[in-house]
Amino acid sequence: MNLKGKNAIITGGGRGLGKAVAQILANEGVNVGITGRNENYLKITANELKATGVKVAYAVFNVDNELEVKAGIESLAEQLGGVDILVNNAGIGDFGSIEEMPSETWEQVIRTNLFGVYYVAKAVHPFLKEKGQGDIVNVASTAGLKGGPNMSAYAASKAAVVSLSQSMMAEWRKENIRVITLTPSTIASDMSINGGLTDGNPDKVLQPEDFAEWVRDILKMNRRALIANGSIFSTNP
Ligand SMILES: NC(=O)c1ccc[n+]([C@@H]2O[C@H](COP(=O)([O-])OP(=O)(O)OC[C@H]3O[C@@H](n4cnc5c(N)ncnc54)[C@H](OP(=O)(O)O)[C@@H]3O)[C@@H](O)[C@H]2O)c1
Repeated sequence: MNLKGKNAIITGGGRGLGKAVAQILANEGVNVGITGRNENYLKITANELKATGVKVAYAVFNVDNELEVKAGIESLAEQLGGVDILVNNAGIGDFGSIEEMPSETWEQVIRTNLFGVYYVAKAVHPFLKEKGQGDIVNVASTAGLKGGPNMSAYAASKAAVVSLSQSMMAEWRKENIRVITLTPSTIASDMSINGGLTDGNPDKVLQPEDFAEWVRDILKMNRRALIANGSIFSTNP
């Protein structure tokens, strides 16, 4: 399917995986709206994206604040002229043992990763419904399929995203909305490198552009085809 002329919102699009997705979609002729908390990253990325010639907009909001999310999504929808695609990507990784991680940090990971995905999808849904079709890509993690040491908050948040996303898929496929649950393994980014999960070696470790190519290709599938969920791994990290 040709994506040219479609409008996509990518949360956390200022850097990392979200930035790579915004770049690859803009290269396909998709108008992009990117979001984040840090306006500097958004401005720099928006300027880079404009070189492709597509419409580019950004909105600054915290995904764990429903009122901010609603206002930010409405502003992007207005600037782009509607929404066809949401890449629900913003998230945080905070790692540590159950005893040592402060409860506030634990709660913040759940609020950002779970409530963030929920609030953003809920705010975008009316725009997809209005069009009679659309795509939502929810970015979970392999950590959401199996917990492990020092990742209780992150793994629990991502397991909840997997489940939320499956419910969304069941409710909204009747409206021709494809809800896609992605569970990537470790990819080189600020989150994974600063979190000590990988050294990010490009000869071995997945890079943000690998993730972006995967998302692009899933979105290009004929509308009758829905990739409901999928994982991606480094071949031999
Ligand atoms: N990298 C990996 O190994 C990996 C593997 C599996 C899944 N994932 C998932 O992929 C997604 C992107 O991760 P990444 O590796 O690209 O991480 P990253 O480099 O740390 O980027 C995270 C992005 O999310 C945004 N963000 C974080 N908290 C936010 C909040 N409260 N409100 C609004 N925006 C927020 C950040 O923007 P600001 O800083 O501007 O707020 C940033 O753009 C996450 O959901 C992550 O869990 C990553």
